[in-house]
Amino acid sequence: MKQAKIIGTGSYLPEKVLTNADLEKMVDTSDEWIVSRTGMRERRIAADDEFTSHLGAKAAQIAIEKAGIDPKSIDLILVATLTPDYMFPSTACLIQSQLKLENTAAMDIQAACSGYIYGLSTAKAFIESGLYKNILFVASEKLSSIVDYEDRKTCVLFGDGAAAAIISAEGKGLIIKETELGCDGNQANILQMPAGGARNPATKETIDKRMHFITMEGKEVFKHAVRRMESSVKQCMEKAGLKEGDISWLIPHQANIRIIDAMAKRFQIPKEQVIITVDKYANTSSSTVGIALDELLAEKKLTSGENILLTAFGAGLTWGSSVLSYE
Ligand code: ACO
Repeated sequence: MKQAKIIGTGSYLPEKVLTNADLEKMVDTSDEWIVSRTGMRERRIAADDEFTSHLGAKAAQIAIEKAGIDPKSIDLILVATLTPDYMFPSTACLIQSQLKLENTAAMDIQAACSGYIYGLSTAKAFIESGLYKNILFVASEKLSSIVDYEDRKTCVLFGDGAAAAIISAEGKGLIIKETELGCDGNQANILQMPAGGARNPATKETIDKRMHFITMEGKEVFKHAVRRMESSVKQCMEKAGLKEGDISWLIPHQANIRIIDAMAKRFQIPKEQVIITVDKYANTSSSTVGIALDELLAEKKLTSGENILLTAFGAGLTWGSSVLSYE
């Protein structure tokens, strides 16, 4: 069977920085509250004319260059996002056009903050089945477009950013050794954007009630996040035949430093081996794991056999984990 590998990664963060001090001027919050409860210090905000597809295309260009492949050989584009440019067409189609790629299939995947793991799993299945040869996978979000900057409970938590990866059966890189996905749709209401879909199309009332923004029961989400990621990691490691000491790097979803610390402690992974970006980019939903992975690969020289553990959690509720192994 063919093995699916990540042979190049890229990421893109918009230039504009929104600090905790800036947020103090917008809502009743403080740098002390935000840092102590979340670990976040600043986040990036896309320009008015910069959308999810643009952020994603920029990350994709870097990933294509790093992979060193002919862009014409890309035969599928997958995009994970919960902030697509439009309800339809898909953001994957828009990225295809911006990159001037031809002869590709293209589709979006919606798994909220678990989107990176869902996307990797989908790409792995397509490569291993032989259906596609070179997949451009992008996770991109302009969360600032659905954040209510009058709601202190959510507006401090999110930022914009994109990650990309080329996934292929050929070339050298990170083997997608194992993936594990899960969902509990009974908890859909604790984290959602209530309007804008077919159930509550945009009306004057939905706008007046601020229903086109993220709503979240933070405490509930927090409890589920730790429990679900823990069991997902256990299952994924078991499937991959790995023990706790076999993990070289942990890349958890960057939603809250307290959740990250709890995961590292549970799996006895030392702090130096945990990749953290939550302080500088906050929660960029589907793209946090990919951005952190890109930073790890840029900063460290991995050696053959090192295992990277990815785990994420998000609206749906959804969750997932993956083990990548350096060739
Ligand atoms: N500044 C100051 N005070 C605040 C702020 C703020 N920004 N936000 C909330 N508070 C207040 C609340 O109003 C509350 O005050 P009260 O007791 O007077 O009512 C108090 O702080 C405590 O609020 P909690 O919500 O109980 O605070 P908690 O310690 O749970 O932290 C947080 C909130 C950071 C949101 C946490 O619950 C969390 O991280 N949850 C998980 C989020 C997550 O993992 N999301 C991932 C998925 S995201 C996706 O899929 C899009």
